[in-house]
Amino acid sequence: MNLPNSLIDSPVNNKTLQRKTPEKEYPAYKSYIKNAFDAGQAHIFRWWNEITPSEKKKLISQTASIDFCLIKDLVNDALLKTPQPVRGNITPPHIIPIPKNDFEKGTAQRAKQIGEGSLRKGEVAILTVAGGDGTRLGINGPKGTFPITPIVRKSIFQLHAEKIRAIQQRYSICIPWYIMTSENNGPTTQGFFQSHRFFGLDPQQVCFFTQGMLPVVDLQGNLLMDSKSNIVMSPNGHGGTIIALGEKGILDDMERRGIKHIFYHQVDNVLIKIADPIFVGYHLMNHAEMSLKIVKKCHPEEKVGIVVNINGHLQVIEYSELSREDMYAKKEDGTLTFNAANIAVHMMNIEFLKKVHQRGETPPYHAAIKRVPYLNENGMTIIPEKNNAIKFESFIFDILKHVQKSVIMEVLREDEFSPVKNMEGENSPATSRQDMVNLFGRWLREAGISIPTDSQGNVIGLIEICPSFALDEDELRNKVDRRLQFNGNLNL
Ligand code: UTP
Repeated sequence: MNLPNSLIDSPVNNKTLQRKTPEKEYPAYKSYIKNAFDAGQAHIFRWWNEITPSEKKKLISQTASIDFCLIKDLVNDALLKTPQPVRGNITPPHIIPIPKNDFEKGTAQRAKQIGEGSLRKGEVAILTVAGGDGTRLGINGPKGTFPITPIVRKSIFQLHAEKIRAIQQRYSICIPWYIMTSENNGPTTQGFFQSHRFFGLDPQQVCFFTQGMLPVVDLQGNLLMDSKSNIVMSPNGHGGTIIALGEKGILDDMERRGIKHIFYHQVDNVLIKIADPIFVGYHLMNHAEMSLKIVKKCHPEEKVGIVVNINGHLQVIEYSELSREDMYAKKEDGTLTFNAANIAVHMMNIEFLKKVHQRGETPPYHAAIKRVPYLNENGMTIIPEKNNAIKFESFIFDILKHVQKSVIMEVLREDEFSPVKNMEGENSPATSRQDMVNLFGRWLREAGISIPTDSQGNVIGLIEICPSFALDEDELRNKVDRRLQFNGNLNL
């Protein structure tokens, strides 16, 4: 990598000698600046003599926040190492099935009572990870602010908030809600909650905290800039939750409030059953440290994380890490052997998280190739048409390697998992709205109301049920007027 001319201290170049260099202007930061040079990233100071003093200050403090050795290692891994297939003895994990017979239904009922007991005692907090950049959705603002509900177009955040209010009412409690954001979307997220008066929740119960950030590099490993004084940074993945929970004092705050377990979910799953008492109960009954909900894969090559045991230890692996043979392997009943798709809904024990944090390990980072706007060397903003950048992200499920006890519970995809990822096509607002409408349609049908569907099984028409009216099928059955005639548009 070539040094920018303005930084070369050449005795023959008087003009250059008169120029200010970052280390001369910020001697206290000399070692950080040297780290950037040593790592071959001197180009971040290319425009040093063009930027204002306050921009210089910002660039220097950004430089000081970057672990250049780590970035160098991550770049080398991303550029030089080829992905290795999973090694070891890979087996399917034990999964609590969707209850079919009376025994299984009875066990689920017992779990529900235990979960409800814990919720009533105020032992469970909600943790929503909302720090992602949402690049694929591509809206101007945090994903949680996206208007999603089928008729009223409530935002995703409002939908979650209303579910939390309904749970609070049901169990006569106040549930602390922790929301992880990033430096990129934190202020806008908080502003959104304030301008909507926290959707009727007590502002004291909603706690925002920010995760760490890592620089974004181009496909050769050079840090990208999006202005002459700003290095492009992106959040360090949902695995950044663990470090942030520890470093920002959130685990201590939870303990002070008497919280023992966290219900963890991703902001973009609009069907999320927040604090599902059955899941909470199974987690508690088994003294689990971290538990997972899974759904059946749609097809062998679906691009989802798969929950497996490797040498007896629970792991989530990429679908592509399975050999073709394992990908298509079937059990005697004809179903796929490795069929457990991770939907990123977890229960986590606070004691366990504290122990993981105290280990102080750097989590494994995964390279994600993305399309990221940047400033080229002529100072022009480039909006790339294809992927041009590498982001480094850690994944929450990588802490499974520390888990001794875990519960894996199967749920129905159509009841509990519909993420908003893309603006169009699969996992988009349109599919999520249809999934919500279909879910409400099933609830109504169970209550004895006739709801027409098309040949695909999709409800013909629109339905929206506010969580304050009914949080689930049972509540709806008890409340809805069975004489109701569906005329194609129903907002309860
Ligand atoms: P995704 O990996 O789908 O990322 O995150 P994303 O940011 O929503 O979208 P893309 O990939 O940029 O298009 C899954 C969940 O994890 C959260 C997201 O907010 C989402 O709820 N997440 C992701 C974080 O909280 N922090 C991160 O660094 C990454």
